[in-house]
Amino acid sequence: MRPSADVRAHVTQRRYRGRSRLVLTVVQDGGVTSEHRLYGELAGWWPLISPPDEYAEEAAYAAALLSSASVPVRDVLELGSGGGNNAAYLTSRFVMTLVDISEEMLAVSRRLNPDCEHVAGDMREIRLGREFDAVFVHDAIDYVTDEADLARVADTAFAHCRAGGIAVFVPDHTVETFVPDTEHGGSDDESGRGARYLAWTWDPDPDDTWVCTEYAFLLRETGGAVHTVHETHRTGLFHRHTWLRVLGEAGFDAEAAVEITTDERQPRDVFVAHRPG
Ligand SMILES: C[S@@+](CC[C@H](N)C(=O)[O-])C[C@H]1O[C@@H](n2cnc3c(N)ncnc32)[C@H](O)[C@@H]1O
Repeated sequence: MRPSADVRAHVTQRRYRGRSRLVLTVVQDGGVTSEHRLYGELAGWWPLISPPDEYAEEAAYAAALLSSASVPVRDVLELGSGGGNNAAYLTSRFVMTLVDISEEMLAVSRRLNPDCEHVAGDMREIRLGREFDAVFVHDAIDYVTDEADLARVADTAFAHCRAGGIAVFVPDHTVETFVPDTEHGGSDDESGRGARYLAWTWDPDPDDTWVCTEYAFLLRETGGAVHTVHETHRTGLFHRHTWLRVLGEAGFDAEAAVEITTDERQPRDVFVAHRPG
């Protein structure tokens, strides 16, 4: 990942394999780190932790937004495509090119989306040297925790978006929509493997641009052995006006919309950015 000038150390309490210990974690501001085991060594559990069938509604909504460009939309670049759960639906309408920083998550996505092009890269700096009709950035944008990196992602989206094209950003929260929350989920497969998680999101400091989610995972192997993992994810929290200003500075005509969802949660703010034709 891109070296950062601002590397911090902080301490997290972790309980793993029955032992409690303090871990000194080196965190690079604004990105996935080696401590995000969910997207590394645990990536194989992703389809059980976050099953593809939970993405149908979100993907349909995203498809409608992507199609609202002033040009016909066929080729779509997704930045931070993860396990490819959205892409699995979007491929019915678009040719998807999928970028993620994690080789392990790309491997999961390749199994789900074998016909898509997959590229390893950091959404803050990748340049594929070609343009798309649309750029989609779903919840991976949450891992951008400072404004400078948000601007880099906006620049990446603009660099890959053709004139008249569109970029759609779907952060989990903005300052205006954020509420501390606890959620849980997970599923099983036919082999007997199963995963459950608890996600507890809170804001340690309302004056900065990030919040924390404490994740507790229970991971059951086929034979019945259960592992527990706790990890902390730091995710970005920006004002709507910051989003709109950063996208405008990148060259987009951007607007905010309120997500349409039947999920029992606060609808998200969605940012729809048009590249002038
Ligand atoms: C919550 S997952 C995305 C899941 C995805 N929406 C899906 O449909 O499966 C977040 C992803 O963001 C990726 N990510 C985080 N920071 C990134 C960056 N700077 N560049 C590219 N990918 C990044 C992680 O590797 C992870 O796969």
